[in-house]
Amino acid sequence: MNPVTNTFCSQCNNALLCGKNPPEVKERIGRCFNSVSSRPHTPSTWLYNGRKQQNICKIDEHRLIPEYMQKHPERKKYILVEMGAGDFSWGKSIAKTINEYIVMKQLPNDISVTIISTRAEENKDDEYAICQELAYGDYRLPTKNCILLNLGLFKIENLFEAFSTKEAELKAKQAELESKLNCTIDIDLNVIGKVDFIFSAWTVRHFVDGPSALEQMCHCLRPGGMYFGDGFFFAYENQSVVPHPNYEEANRNMVKLLSDAKVDFVMNMCDEGRSLNHFVIKKGTNCVHFPLENKTLLKVGEAYCAYSMCIPQFKGDYIENDLFNMPKYYFQLYGNSKDLFNEIAPYYYDQNSRDSRAYFQPLLLDKQLENKCLAKAILAIDACGGYLGIVSGGYLKDAPDLNKEYLIGMNPPLLMNPLSLCIFRNNKRGFNMILEKDPDCFSYITSDGNTPLHIAAMYDKEGWFAGALIKALEINDSSMAPNKQGKTPLDLARENNNEKVVELLNNVNK
Ligand SMILES: C[S@@+](CC[C@H](N)C(=O)[O-])C[C@H]1O[C@@H](n2cnc3c(N)ncnc32)[C@H](O)[C@@H]1O
Repeated sequence: MNPVTNTFCSQCNNALLCGKNPPEVKERIGRCFNSVSSRPHTPSTWLYNGRKQQNICKIDEHRLIPEYMQKHPERKKYILVEMGAGDFSWGKSIAKTINEYIVMKQLPNDISVTIISTRAEENKDDEYAICQELAYGDYRLPTKNCILLNLGLFKIENLFEAFSTKEAELKAKQAELESKLNCTIDIDLNVIGKVDFIFSAWTVRHFVDGPSALEQMCHCLRPGGMYFGDGFFFAYENQSVVPHPNYEEANRNMVKLLSDAKVDFVMNMCDEGRSLNHFVIKKGTNCVHFPLENKTLLKVGEAYCAYSMCIPQFKGDYIENDLFNMPKYYFQLYGNSKDLFNEIAPYYYDQNSRDSRAYFQPLLLDKQLENKCLAKAILAIDACGGYLGIVSGGYLKDAPDLNKEYLIGMNPPLLMNPLSLCIFRNNKRGFNMILEKDPDCFSYITSDGNTPLHIAAMYDKEGWFAGALIKALEINDSSMAPNKQGKTPLDLARENNNEKVVELLNNVNK
């Protein structure tokens, strides 16, 4: 496989986005990959690190995939891929499901299914294995239909090069693998235009350049192949970056991207708790090209992309597109292709939510935890919408303390404690919960000398938080201690044209 030619579409010969990357983008992709791949992987600290069922767009792929195979009895070889596979559990579980169908004679036993799972972290276990297990019972399949390729240190953003490097690595070990597996094996990772299904969840959002990664993945699909994945962040020329991502804009951008590429898709609205909408894309006979130009990198905080710290920005304008007016097919499923909807709808299965709120809320409701060391962590996590606990490394096990400070990915970065974050995020409920639990934290000072009142002076446009702080701290003099830049809350409120807080602080002197 020649990585150079793969920067052009093998079908229409148009340049792929990855072939137009300026040096700064290439360099950033390498840097981002290095920081993700050096994360601990056993145990992993990802909130989601692989699961048996993807349930993207609420579709049960454990039925859809084998039934798709049943509908194509002439085909004997299939390729399934998971990009950003965490602990590789999905690949193994879909292999078991397919084995189950073979044992039940619902699929012929002469099919061969290659399941490729990739991730950034190293895989110290077998990268090439055969799955003979079944989902139920301890029976092992005598035939070897499902090959599992669990590929670590795989740079998805340089997809074609990653496949060819892995192919070379595995070929170098071929004799060893064959003797271990006691059979001959065929190592072929030239998958361009051959993949039946690609799955990717909570992964592309961590990349430097999501659109280019998605375009490369679509290039790997065969005509009629499907991509199941969730959204990611990128910007058009007229979009600026705010401290916290605007999920609705990101979802609208995805719709514009797919519509401009004239690709068939179905979308599931699921934008709660940091989730971005889900998409199923079906490749037709035409190749998928995203008409995006003039890529530059826009620096963002870690609330967007904790590893790349940037998103790509392209020529063209963000438009208020018809996200909510587009055809709604069923429940939360929208899209531009009734045919695609009809193809996947029989597998609709509202199994479980994948948003992080669903993960954290049961913890918040668990009263027993209140009295344990986690109580503060839970409060802090709630205060920060789940985000803080995650980026500060290891969520609950590295329980954030109310008096601990965190660097918030702003430009320039800001140090905040959980109470300040509540103010910054306009989270009144979190603020009140903290007040109830630990009134002392009103006076916590970050190492750059900011009290929560300094933060309120900058961000509390309504004056709600400043008013509560002034009351709780019984402040009666606006000439409070300055921060390390020598600025008092009153100075900051004036600088930020925060009239409400200026008025409140002026009143305390009276
Ligand atoms: C949050 S986990 C998601 C795992 C799984 N898809 C799930 O939803 O449970 C993110 C996955 O993406 C992979 N990943 C993130 N950034 C990557 C990069 N730049 N290159 C390759 N893989 C990356 C990580 O290795 C990890 O497996």
